[in-house]
Amino acid sequence: DAAEKGGYEHFMLKEIHEQPESLANAIRGRLDFNLGSSVLSGMGTSSRDLAEINRVVLLGCGTSLHAGLVGEYAFEDLADLHAEVHQAAEFRYRNPLIGRSDLVVAISQSGETADTLAAVREANQKGAFVMGLCNVVGSTIARETGRGVYLHAGPEISVASTKAFTCQVAVLLMIALKLARGRRYSREQGMHLAKQIDSIPEFVRATIAQNEAIAELARHYADNEHAFFIGRGCMYPVALEGALKLKEISYIHAEGYHAAELKHGPIALLEEGTPVIAIATDIPGKDKTLGNVEECRARGARILGVITEGDEEAAAYMDDVIRVPACDPLVSTIPATVALQLLAYHIARIRGCEIDQPRNLAKSVTVE
Ligand code: G6P
Repeated sequence: DAAEKGGYEHFMLKEIHEQPESLANAIRGRLDFNLGSSVLSGMGTSSRDLAEINRVVLLGCGTSLHAGLVGEYAFEDLADLHAEVHQAAEFRYRNPLIGRSDLVVAISQSGETADTLAAVREANQKGAFVMGLCNVVGSTIARETGRGVYLHAGPEISVASTKAFTCQVAVLLMIALKLARGRRYSREQGMHLAKQIDSIPEFVRATIAQNEAIAELARHYADNEHAFFIGRGCMYPVALEGALKLKEISYIHAEGYHAAELKHGPIALLEEGTPVIAIATDIPGKDKTLGNVEECRARGARILGVITEGDEEAAAYMDDVIRVPACDPLVSTIPATVALQLLAYHIARIRGCEIDQPRNLAKSVTVE
């Protein structure tokens, strides 16, 4: 067991540390710096198929659903494509209005989640262009979609997903880049984003280098029973994922909220010392998030900010900070998530939790 964990105390910590390598594996050979695009042959799309796509529908559950929410921003921002995320469990019980011009991306680490599989079958039946985004090679969803992009994240043992999520986001960014290049993105813009994607492993390495500092500041947050995570834009799904990670492994009641929604309810719960984790990296809307931080502070909350390196203005709003490298906003969702994975891990460790096998949770949910 100890050997399998490669000297780490838990699989989760090992898998967090593996991310520079798993991301490099997910990205390797898939970027074309000359064309400023990506090469994803498994998608099986001709340029005609790509031109016919009018909308992207992303499906998933749990952490994979959160990756889809980041993808939604990427497709809209980069490719000017209408994109929507559906909870896989709900998909076939509503009336999903999809057809041949829809690209349906089923996101599943295991490729075995029952709800996601059922949604894939529904989308296939409706004639959509369905692809899988799976980690496990040969899994049911990978087989039934027939086309897709493997994550190459390597086996993920910890029930709480870490490296699969960051690889899912990296792959979604590469799919969005490919679609963007057929639409509004110039070669130069494409080259810039391709270089940013190529640097993701390095950005993540720089974030993981703060592991000890994060372990130290986690002590200030380990005794609380509630926590709020807030973010805007593409950092909203990061807030959801940060809260999910914390509740899964530390059993702290954590909620992820859009920073603007705080005022519509959850702010009523803030008391002296309630932790608010604000993802306030340098992206459009950051100033508004800082305004929301100020409102929380005025109610006595203790604020941990995930901010961009060198942003002293943002740092001044926070009690504690974790700094992530300056990079493209969509790309920065990845190091920001890694920071929150480490935070959740250390809080759970301080609380003496199981971590790799949280109570009541399964790695793969194969029943509806
Ligand atoms: C379970 C796991 C989560 C995972 C979700 C979806 O709830 O505990 O970590 O995100 O299923 O799994 P999938 O394999 O479809 O990504």
